[in-house]
Amino acid sequence: MSIQTVSTQPFSDQKPGTSGLRKKVRVFQQPHYLENFVQAIFDTQPLQGGVLVLGGDGRFYNRQAIQIILRMAAANGIAKVLVGQGGILSTPAASHLIRKYRTQGGIILSASHNPGGPDEDFGIKFNASNGGPAAEKITEAIYARSKQIDSYRLLQADDLDIDRLDIDQVGSSQLGEMQVEVVDSVKDYAELMQHLFDFELMRSFFDNANFSMCFDAMHAVTGPYARYILEELLGAPPGSVINAQPLEDFGGGHPDPNLVHAAELVAMTRGSKGLDFAAASDGDGDRNMILGRDCFVTPSDSLAIMAANARLIPGYAHGISGIARSMPTSQAADRVAEALELPCYETPTGWKFFGNLLDAGRISLCGEESFGSGSDHVREKDGLWAVLFWLNLLAVKGHSVATILKEHWARFGRNYYSRHDYEAIDTQAAEGLMAHLRDQFSQLPGQEIGGYRVSYADDFSYSDPVDASVSANQGIRIGFEDGSRVVFRLSGTGTEGATLRIYLESFEPDPAKQHEDTQEVLQPLIAIAEQLAQIRQRTGREAPTVIT
Ligand code: G1P
Ligand code: ZN
Repeated sequence: MSIQTVSTQPFSDQKPGTSGLRKKVRVFQQPHYLENFVQAIFDTQPLQGGVLVLGGDGRFYNRQAIQIILRMAAANGIAKVLVGQGGILSTPAASHLIRKYRTQGGIILSASHNPGGPDEDFGIKFNASNGGPAAEKITEAIYARSKQIDSYRLLQADDLDIDRLDIDQVGSSQLGEMQVEVVDSVKDYAELMQHLFDFELMRSFFDNANFSMCFDAMHAVTGPYARYILEELLGAPPGSVINAQPLEDFGGGHPDPNLVHAAELVAMTRGSKGLDFAAASDGDGDRNMILGRDCFVTPSDSLAIMAANARLIPGYAHGISGIARSMPTSQAADRVAEALELPCYETPTGWKFFGNLLDAGRISLCGEESFGSGSDHVREKDGLWAVLFWLNLLAVKGHSVATILKEHWARFGRNYYSRHDYEAIDTQAAEGLMAHLRDQFSQLPGQEIGGYRVSYADDFSYSDPVDASVSANQGIRIGFEDGSRVVFRLSGTGTEGATLRIYLESFEPDPAKQHEDTQEVLQPLIAIAEQLAQIRQRTGREAPTVIT
């Protein structure tokens, strides 16, 4: 066996987005493309002589990428790699492994909720030793290196072919000087969940024949985790976890747990015979969707409800230190923080901004409107964790999901909330639209638009309270005097054209006024968004692609 140095040339498009480098599979399959990026990680991160966690969501190209990365790790002086069995590790499980075994970091292969398959998406991201997504200064260093790279290192042997190294059996082997330890993908994570939640209580709750539930793994990574935890450990009836087999193309579906892509699951909760509880997770297992009979818990409300009830859950029985939400997430959590006198932080979109706050102990819970919630147990959002949190809460309270929601709104008021996405629009048109908003926001405060008075308008800039780093231009926020908001930003995770996201929120303090139709409640704000941003004219679209 020998270490080969392969000459290469930089690619100009390896700038990591909101969550790592995400491109079409065909882009990753170009000679040297994956290798360049991986070498840029090894060249800039202190991993030599250390331990690395490696795994992914099982999508197309996962296995090949793992073989390449293993051979590169061996050639770059990594002492040991912990690989999930079959190359499978959910994003939160990978984060947990990094933390539990105090490794120097991890490489996670995933394009999250984006479709998989030869013509679809692939992705790679580096998580640092705290278990969380690399901070901006790390991704910038990796990107800068990727633009200069002229060679990468790979372990070569005559009898070493891609796909040769067995990653399907749990156990240890050598690759050159490096140890490869294939670990059970589920075990450590399941232990962590048992530590946080009252499994005994939930088990007796599941014994109650009147409780019906379904978890849709969407043929993505959480299948094995959910089967083991929900069906085996908690005794949910076999078949409670559907689409549990991870598939390279997610069964042709879109592994994104929302009202559009998990429509079948939503249908199962409708009507008097609807399920009491249903949930789903995404491609890499960090997102969650929570449903009750005839009701949907918006992710923003879910965060607020978790925060308000944290003391009922064993892992948080001593109380929480603070809450953080991403900027576009509704302000429902802020109301809880205020009532409980807890610090509350508003961060830019993307999980990496929560890491510093969690590491510093300033917050215990955090979440995003994009179906993400999490806590200080790992440094990623965690889909199954959120599901277990809700199940534990239902078991403690003995109430339906709908009742828990109503009680929450009665106490804190209700933030009606929706996100409108315009996917794959022309990049120049999208940038033009944002520039148009940037040109006018400073004149908006004090003005009245569509019957609403603007109280503030800005391009959100975040100054990290822990390391004082500043992240500017994070999206246009327009706040109105009655607490309503409209937010505009461009997606950082898309792989085709640009995606414009418009976040709409209005506040109703009176619990007696409950409206069925959120879109109707938000109609005046939708009209204001159109008026300010000229969406139809600039994008050529009559309506959003996805409304959540
Ligand atoms: C999207 C979500 C964001 C989330 C990210 C990764 O990013 O909006 O909240 O952190 O995916 O799951 P975006 O495409 O909006 O940049
Ligand atoms: Zn994800």
